[in-house]
Amino acid sequence: MNPAERPLIEVRDLVKVYRTGDVELHALDGVSFSIDRGEFVAVMGPSGSGKSTTMNMLGCLDSPTAGEYFLDGRNVAALSGDDLAEVRNCGLGFVFQGFNLLPRLDALGNVALPLVYSGVGAAERRERAVTALERVGLGDRLHHRPNQMSGGQQQRVAIARALVGRAPLILADEPTGNLDTRTSEEIMDLLVEVNGEGKTIVLVTHEPDIAEYAKRVLHFRDGKLAKDEKKTAGSARTRQGTCSLAGIQTQGGGARSALGFAGPPETPDVLNERVQGTRPLPGFGAEPHDFSGEEVLR
Ligand SMILES: Nc1ncnc2c1ncn2[C@@H]1O[C@H](COP(=O)(O)OP(=O)(O)OP(=O)(O)O)[C@@H](O)[C@H]1O
Ligand SMILES: [Mg+2]
Repeated sequence: MNPAERPLIEVRDLVKVYRTGDVELHALDGVSFSIDRGEFVAVMGPSGSGKSTTMNMLGCLDSPTAGEYFLDGRNVAALSGDDLAEVRNCGLGFVFQGFNLLPRLDALGNVALPLVYSGVGAAERRERAVTALERVGLGDRLHHRPNQMSGGQQQRVAIARALVGRAPLILADEPTGNLDTRTSEEIMDLLVEVNGEGKTIVLVTHEPDIAEYAKRVLHFRDGKLAKDEKKTAGSARTRQGTCSLAGIQTQGGGARSALGFAGPPETPDVLNERVQGTRPLPGFGAEPHDFSGEEVLR
């Protein structure tokens, strides 16, 4: 199939079973869907219905118990640690409800950090981080630390961090969950703008007002996809970002392994730390990832 025509995301019969002692919990129970390039998809459903579990699979932060996930035509289960690290670093950007910024780093350092892992040189890291922060309206907050910024500003830093790798796919798990209505609207306007530039957006939300921004809603219930609601036909844009998954094979340096991961299920906090690079990863040595701002930018 022509790469431009195949779905960006395709999951087939995804199953995720969590075992706690003798108890098995089917967090996902046979979920199948595909998402094309340029789509803006909201994921909705009651608490515990499997939304975050799905997002963690799509973000390659966790692996399914059964089923298949093809990201840009590549079988994620078959990727090596290095390839998986590159997909996470360059193929997608993840935005969390709790922002998950490193408290010791300023906005610039937080946004530049993913580029350390993809082997981008210091001058370019700085330039791209500044551009990404200007893009989200924070050009005047480069040196503010997370605790010196409002919730909306922190979330915009998190979005800048997701954009800085120029990934074609942005995954956001309740990005407005901690924000007031007006700030939520600002964040959504930003995501709509980014979608208009051709990026694919998948966003979890509990709020119907937020889901209104999406062109399609996947409704989850009890670990199953209960409804796939397409609001408008043919409105998805297909323009691609600058860092396509097809291109990532040729990118990256030695540090790219730092985000590699294949292992047992872990708590969201652990997963978040992996994305931030603050937690050593199994199989890649005890790298502390205790970066100072200078290390990130120099
Ligand atoms: N690491 C884990 N170990 C055991 N059970 C888990 C784990 N992570 C999630 N679960 C369970 O899997 C189910 C789905 O969880 P998930 O986080 O995907 O729900 P959700 O739809 O995102 O809910 P919410 O809207 O509350 O965020 C829940 O019943 C949850 O308790
Ligand atoms: Mg959740």
